[in-house]
Amino acid sequence: MSKPSRAPRRPGKPADTIAAGTLVFLRLPRLEDRAEMLRVRRGSRAFLEPWEATPERGPSPWGPGWFDRFLASSATDASLRMLICAADDGRIVGQIGLGGIVRGAFQSAFLGYWIAETETRRGYARQAITLAISHAFGTMGLHRVEANIIPRNKPSKLLVKRIGFRYEGLARRYLRINHVWEDHEHWAISREEWGTP
Ligand SMILES: CC(C)(COP(=O)(O)OP(=O)(O)OC[C@H]1O[C@@H](n2cnc3c(N)ncnc32)[C@H](O)[C@@H]1OP(=O)(O)O)[C@@H](O)C(=O)NCCC(=O)NCCS
Repeated sequence: MSKPSRAPRRPGKPADTIAAGTLVFLRLPRLEDRAEMLRVRRGSRAFLEPWEATPERGPSPWGPGWFDRFLASSATDASLRMLICAADDGRIVGQIGLGGIVRGAFQSAFLGYWIAETETRRGYARQAITLAISHAFGTMGLHRVEANIIPRNKPSKLLVKRIGFRYEGLARRYLRINHVWEDHEHWAISREEWGTP
């Protein structure tokens, strides 16, 4: 188990907040988040590594190059990657992102998320996903959000099921996770199911 994170206290919501709830708010990453973000990720490495996407080429998911890529892809036409920050003091507790955004007649995106090991079971992921989906179906005008989950990742499956995602089936050797092409379950939710007008 890693040590609890010690972040500088930053009361209040920053101006670049994308969505806010009672427990967490979501905001875009900034250059000055580098040290805190890398410390949070490295502190939870053993916990996160079994579920970490590892492209065949690219920087190590645990090094500074990873942060550069995260920052560069944080707000593009194809992706929106945000920090999950605790509402009480603004510390970084995790990350959530909408990737592979396709517009036109699809209006769809993939959802990814993680929470630092020391911050789990406090409802942070559930609220962060709820906020991200409301933003996706509201401001962004998307129609479908899909989460892809390794069948043995029971916490993640229970989490999305509780939020209202539907199981759609199993895709073989779908994503390269921790250097292995892993089967994934498709879990999805549409704007109609979420209830956004
Ligand atoms: C999965 C993960 C995001 C959950 O984050 P979290 O902040 O602890 O989740 P929450 O506290 O919001 O939990 C919401 C619900 O999810 C389910 N859940 C979360 N963690 C669980 C666990 N360890 N065991 C069983 N159910 C779990 C429960 O239904 C929970 O509701 P409850 O607390 O009322 O029982 C976190 O464990 C994590 O980051 N795991 C490693 C990375 C990962 O798996 N990412 C997703 C890849 S698809």
